[in-house]
Amino acid sequence: MTALPRTVDGTRLLRRLDELAQIGSTGDGGVCRLALTVEDGAGRDLVVTWMHDLGLRVDIDGIGNVVGTWPADRFDPPVMMGSHVDTVRTGGRYDGNLGVLAGLEVIETAIDATVAGALDPARLPHPLAVALFTDEEGARFAPDMLGSLTYVGGLALEDALDSEDATGLRVGDELERIGYVGPQPCPGPVPRAFVELHIEQGPVLERGGITIGAVTGVQGISWSELTITGQSNHAGTTPMAMRHDAGYAAAAIATFVRRLAKVLGGAQVATVGRLDLHPDLINVIPARAVLTVDLRNTDPVVLLDARHRLADYVAELAEDEGVTIEMRSLAEFAPVVFDERLVAMIEEVARAAGHTVRRLPSGAGHDAQMLARVCPAAMVFVPSDDGISHNPAEHTDAADIAAGADVLLEVVLRLATDAGPLPPADDGSTGATPAEDTDPNDRHDAGVRM
Ligand code: HGY
Ligand code: MN
Ligand code: MN
Repeated sequence: MTALPRTVDGTRLLRRLDELAQIGSTGDGGVCRLALTVEDGAGRDLVVTWMHDLGLRVDIDGIGNVVGTWPADRFDPPVMMGSHVDTVRTGGRYDGNLGVLAGLEVIETAIDATVAGALDPARLPHPLAVALFTDEEGARFAPDMLGSLTYVGGLALEDALDSEDATGLRVGDELERIGYVGPQPCPGPVPRAFVELHIEQGPVLERGGITIGAVTGVQGISWSELTITGQSNHAGTTPMAMRHDAGYAAAAIATFVRRLAKVLGGAQVATVGRLDLHPDLINVIPARAVLTVDLRNTDPVVLLDARHRLADYVAELAEDEGVTIEMRSLAEFAPVVFDERLVAMIEEVARAAGHTVRRLPSGAGHDAQMLARVCPAAMVFVPSDDGISHNPAEHTDAADIAAGADVLLEVVLRLATDAGPLPPADDGSTGATPAEDTDPNDRHDAGVRM
């Protein structure tokens, strides 16, 4: 039997990335395929067609997650790859799409290897699978990673189907509309392991001149939606002391969270991404404001403190301005640590292939953080030019894409061809014990005050 393949067909992978990027193209190199829109449906259809063309068994579950398995007649736990094909409104062509298409490319490389006699699928200890998970971005339906969270049983299917977008449309109805309500049950079958290739979406690898990131875990995420109700009034006639200005309160919160990140320092980040005013007119004091706050930190204690300080500030502001402010939690995910055995394997494979590699946590959320709840999971990062993502200018060099896919190939083939348990890591660890969701109502005071 000839040796197992060590490299993927990078040209084929880039061609699929280009073809998928045409669906929902924004004309400036970017992509808009918000979850469960017609564009998302068309993107899914293209990937499913490629899965069928390769002879994969395609399973679709009740939240629209799609899993392609090879060999098609295998139902035992696969070594699973994957990510998402939904994008933010101003998305790039690599976020999520690279993980799905690199997984497909790894499987096609394995199929090519069987033709060349290097791999006998009948004797493969573990099948291969590639998944695309529904609504990873959370940009339209919260929480983010909605599909993979439901896949691992972290969210009941009926609750996931009831999530609504800002216009009141339900996940379940939109899923129906694009034809992706599948028969497979949620939670889905537990894989032997899950490995996700993703662009870093930050500046760390590029700044260090590093090609491969062995991702150690994902930072904690806290999303809130705040609805501020004040009183509309005339911009010219209303004395300042009489105002209950929802627009001012929203701006004050945006300033507060920026200052909060500065005061907390370290890994703390804070973002007001959405801000809508009503009636949104030049000469009317806003009656209502709806804004979102995205807080993240690798340290769960500091993240919890940040959340509580925001809540305290909001209560004080509502009192001072004479407005009401309702805070709704959209997502609360504790930091996740990936499986040391896989992280070490990614490092070793990258080094053996002659790539520069370093460990780093992920600033962005990913489906792998959900799969880590049920099986050994880890991620491979490749650099993002200028650290840019969630932006049409998102770009990763072809050579880096091929390097990341080659590392994914080698790690996945090692896991799939080894019938035994995962080898223990050098530190003896035998798997991560990922944290559960944080309870949005528990109180903790780190004692640090603004
Ligand atoms: O929000 C995130 O980190 C991811 O892009 N869903
Ligand atoms: Mn992503
Ligand atoms: Mn994203």
